[in-house]
Amino acid sequence: MSATEGGRLRVLVPRHSIEVRTAQVAAAIDADYAGKAPVLLGVLKGAFVFLADLARCMAEPVQLDFVEVSSYGKGKRTSGRPRMIRAPGLPLGDRHVLIVEDIVDSGVTVDYLIDYIARLQPASVRVCALFDKPCRREVEVPLHYVGFTIPDVFAVGCGLDYAEEYRNLPDLCALEEA
Ligand code: IMP
Ligand code: MG
Repeated sequence: MSATEGGRLRVLVPRHSIEVRTAQVAAAIDADYAGKAPVLLGVLKGAFVFLADLARCMAEPVQLDFVEVSSYGKGKRTSGRPRMIRAPGLPLGDRHVLIVEDIVDSGVTVDYLIDYIARLQPASVRVCALFDKPCRREVEVPLHYVGFTIPDVFAVGCGLDYAEEYRNLPDLCALEEA
């Protein structure tokens, strides 16, 4: 289902609510990481929108880095076996690392990432996700900061895609069969 094939979009979380919540999450991270110069580690591609917004709401000094992990391909279901496509560029030993995700669904990707980062011997590793679909969880993962808990729908916009489309929508929308 692509834009040209006519999937229907229903707004789940409007842009304004995302902006307000992002500022609240940034304030919580600022307070928790004061003086720690954390590395915000965005998970490409989906987290690029949230990471850009989050980082610009923060007052504390931060460094930014990205990883890319394969999992979804073109479908709506995870392939279940993540693989590191782009490893972190910054040395993360002894750093406070905050993994920044667009959405946590099965938990498989975040579980893999926490394990991967932990091997680099950081000072700490935590997870911040803009959206959480807890009803889809297959692996229990610790989420330290969550923007919104959403129901079991396939969501697009705000960085999230379906077959690489819709990432630039400012609202989070449910993608429904027409
Ligand atoms: P997980 O490993 O199943 O938790 O999935 C993590 C990744 O799958 C996220 O970082 C997203 O890129 C993608 N994903 C999960 N749910 C959705 C969705 O509803 N829409 C778009 N992408 C999703
Ligand atoms: Mg992602």
